[in-house]
Amino acid sequence: MMIQEITIVSTVNEIAENTYQAKLIAPKIASVCKPGQFINILPSETWKSVMRRPMSIAGQNGDEIQIIFKVVGKGTQIMSRWKSNDKVDIIGPLGNFWSGLEDKLPILLGGGVGIAPILYLHNFLNENSISHYLVMGAKTKCEHFICHNPEDRVLLTTDDGSIGIHGTVIDGLKNILYQPKDIAEMKIFACGPPMMNKFVKRFAIENDIECYIALETLMACGFGNCQGCAVERNVDNKTDHSYRQKYALVCKDGPIFNAKDIVKC
Ligand SMILES: Cc1cc2nc3c(=O)[nH]c(=O)nc-3n(C[C@H](O)[C@H](O)[C@H](O)COP(=O)(O)OP(=O)(O)OC[C@H]3O[C@@H](n4cnc5c(N)ncnc54)[C@H](O)[C@@H]3O)c2cc1C
Ligand code: FES
Repeated sequence: MMIQEITIVSTVNEIAENTYQAKLIAPKIASVCKPGQFINILPSETWKSVMRRPMSIAGQNGDEIQIIFKVVGKGTQIMSRWKSNDKVDIIGPLGNFWSGLEDKLPILLGGGVGIAPILYLHNFLNENSISHYLVMGAKTKCEHFICHNPEDRVLLTTDDGSIGIHGTVIDGLKNILYQPKDIAEMKIFACGPPMMNKFVKRFAIENDIECYIALETLMACGFGNCQGCAVERNVDNKTDHSYRQKYALVCKDGPIFNAKDIVKC
């Protein structure tokens, strides 16, 4: 179900270095959205670009949805300056969502702006009392906004070792796997920058762990028209398949894929 909704900005706060959290009153979308899905945003009424800006839903509470974003260009700069009661035009919820949450022990891995959908999934699992691990990675402690709390199965990693485990989310993951757990009983849910996704995918395949990754590929239309978000699928014989069997669209078939089903994250 795809809904266009004029939402009201509730709050916008800088929660970490160059990282903003915006809460939008969006009753229609809030009533149906699920962890892993995204919205397509018109940053302002005078936005000149034909392309909206895709953002993962980072949380839902009653009539409100949250997004968490980094300012990288014009659209996100406008969004960081939204004021309470501003009206914002969004379309959503778009894309597929994480499922099979109770089949195995979920291991959640988030990095960069990929923390947004992973945080939504983390809170959803907590609300439904589904035991899981959360590993959040960043370059340095200034980019983190939750606490390192191994007792509660929440692990932070930093490239520079300024907080939590020194290293990447893979080091956080190894920290969990070194505990006596059966790998076959675990399932990874991940979202992060392409480099992180690449290593998570490789680690999961090498260790035979089921793994579902949400991709945040560059997008244009956001609903399957432009083919701008195509990713190559893993198919046995390339010549025997149609274009759609060989390529998936992140906006329509994703953003979540089984890591072994796509060639490159
Ligand atoms: C499904 C999906 C979910 C997303 N969720 C989030 C989220 O929760 N939080 C968040 O901060 N961002 C998220 N993104 C990325 C976000 O859409 C872009 O950062 C945003 O569109 C940039 O808009 P802009 O006008 O500020 O920057 P632009 O002026 O369009 O671009 C500025 C720079 O950012 C780069 N850039 C633009 N889009 C992306 C992208 N998708 N990935 C990597 N680099 C990009 C451009 O190449 C350029 O170098 C998501 C993207 C997708 C496809
Ligand atoms: S963004 Fe246009 S087809 Fe996916």
